[in-house]
Amino acid sequence: MIDFLGDWKRTHYCGALTSKDVGREVTLMGWVMRRRDHGGLIFIDLRDREGLAQVVFDPDQNADAHKKAESLRNEYVVAIKGKVIARPEGTVNPNMKTGEVEVVVSECKLLNRSKALPFTLDEYVDVAENLRLKHRYLDLRRPTLQQNLILRSKVAQVTRHYLTGNGFHELETPFLTKSTPEGARDFLVPSRISNGEFYALPQSPQLFKQILMVSGFDRYFQIVRCFRDEDLRADRQPEFTQIDCEMSFIDREDIITVMEGLIATIFKTAKDVDVALPIPRMTYTEAIRRFGVDNPDLRFGLELVELSDIVKGAGFKVFADVVAGGGIVKGLNAKGCGGMSRKEIDELTEFAKIYGAKGLAYVKVTAEGWQSPIAKFFTPEEIAAMDKIFAAEEGDLLLFVADKPKVVNDSLGKLRNHLANLLGLLDKNVFNFVWITDFPLLEWDEEDKRWAAVHHPFTAPMDEDLEYVESDPGRCRAKAYDLVLNGNEIGGGSIRIHQEKIQSLMFKMLGLSEEDAHSKFGFLLDALEYGTPPHGGIAFGMDRLIMLLTGSDSIRDVIAFPKTQKGACLMSDAPSPVDARQLKELGLRLAAK
Ligand code: AMO
Ligand code: AMP
Repeated sequence: MIDFLGDWKRTHYCGALTSKDVGREVTLMGWVMRRRDHGGLIFIDLRDREGLAQVVFDPDQNADAHKKAESLRNEYVVAIKGKVIARPEGTVNPNMKTGEVEVVVSECKLLNRSKALPFTLDEYVDVAENLRLKHRYLDLRRPTLQQNLILRSKVAQVTRHYLTGNGFHELETPFLTKSTPEGARDFLVPSRISNGEFYALPQSPQLFKQILMVSGFDRYFQIVRCFRDEDLRADRQPEFTQIDCEMSFIDREDIITVMEGLIATIFKTAKDVDVALPIPRMTYTEAIRRFGVDNPDLRFGLELVELSDIVKGAGFKVFADVVAGGGIVKGLNAKGCGGMSRKEIDELTEFAKIYGAKGLAYVKVTAEGWQSPIAKFFTPEEIAAMDKIFAAEEGDLLLFVADKPKVVNDSLGKLRNHLANLLGLLDKNVFNFVWITDFPLLEWDEEDKRWAAVHHPFTAPMDEDLEYVESDPGRCRAKAYDLVLNGNEIGGGSIRIHQEKIQSLMFKMLGLSEEDAHSKFGFLLDALEYGTPPHGGIAFGMDRLIMLLTGSDSIRDVIAFPKTQKGACLMSDAPSPVDARQLKELGLRLAAK
């Protein structure tokens, strides 16, 4: 029989009982985590969001309650009244927050039953993620996931407190909007009232927050959902949350200072970690040169070195030809990996190939010198010069890629991270921040044969580079900056273009005709003509931030109801087909499959 709650009121959370409560009469409510039958006595670990309490049913004290306890199964919902006592000597559990006490039950209500679970909630047992996602309501009972989401709530609260304390107003921007491209595909929503027309879900509130600056709000923030229809990876979701900020009458330094304060406050409050301020900075050019990527993980070395000058005249044609053709040769010293097997090196090669490398030349540094299929192609002088640049020592493994700069940097940069992972160099308890600054404004898109904005089209060029935007677009740097934490881009922003003329020029550089620019961004161009203040801002990826704060391996572990790699919600079964009537109202007809 199921009992009603009646007039029972909870007095304590299960997980909050301590030895200070000994002697108190308490009412607890929660889920049965496990039941242990010890002949006469029955022990139940009762769980709520704060943790577990051990409750004891003694047949000699209360036969009715004991009888009820016999029928309890895992995940049944119960309420008990009882008295907190100190656990008898020898039964104290130091691994449990409430391990010094237990509750002797006087009354028990069974509030609801549960079917047998499709998987165990035991944190130490691996369960297939798809099964967990299908029964997300059960998965979310696990203490780790609960703690992740509770920490997330705390971060949101600290963020609001800090930013409002610094003069920011929390303002909302629309979800049903016109596309504001950040480089990904839009999610579209068909209009019923205007058949054939579509809203786009925002990839970010970028244009709206800029327009709020035009209107004079001066400082804006929003903890806001963004939508991007892109290929998903471990650190990406089709809908994700940004801490989105914008400020007026400021320069880059003002934004960096305020945002470093925010980051330090979040880490102190949520994790009791002191972030050393100011956060170091590195230009984009230096990041690519030393680490191959614009989001370098600075927890370890393994820096890339440039060898083009040494190998350009060498007998190894693969390298010499690449340099002659305008490419480069770079390498990295996998410290102490000289003992790797052929198979392990082949695996590294396959990894580098994912990023376009055509091969991965390698050298084992031994007491007798270089041991490598390519050693014979180099003179002793060339070998000595490379050893010096690599700081090579006996037992090292030197890895080389020759190709176009983009391929070399990409493949070696990713390989560097891969090696660090293999070598166990990634300590989750170390938080290494760096600002990456001075990004290029534009980059040539080989596929589309046009210039594309590296950050987004609203980012301002450096004042001193403005004159080259048209004549030499590749050399222009942008007033853009990213915040990188342990190799993850956790935030990015820029000073914006606030003059209509420059914004129009930018659109032209991106290959938009005047007409296109007006039909897509007319509202921005118009607004810019009515007294727009200098302004800029930033957005942090809140999910990624929480992922790193909690040491989670997947972004899905910090989102209550995440999507799979295929963009599906396995619990609600979205996306799913809709009624013919709904389609008709929207003026849509499906193409035959
Ligand atoms: P950006 O596109 O760099 O900038 O996004 C800001 C931050 O959002 C996070 N992020 C994501 N997190 C999870 N899943 C995704 N699919 C995803 N995409 C991005 C990243 C990133 O650093 N409007 C600009 C900001 C500005 O200029 O102020 C913008 O959206 O951590
Ligand atoms: P090959 O002359 O093609 O047999 O290559 C000799 C070695 O150089 C092999 O280990 C290849 O993996 C490597 N290699 C080939 N092309 C490249 C390249 N573009 N960059 C780096 N290494 C390469």
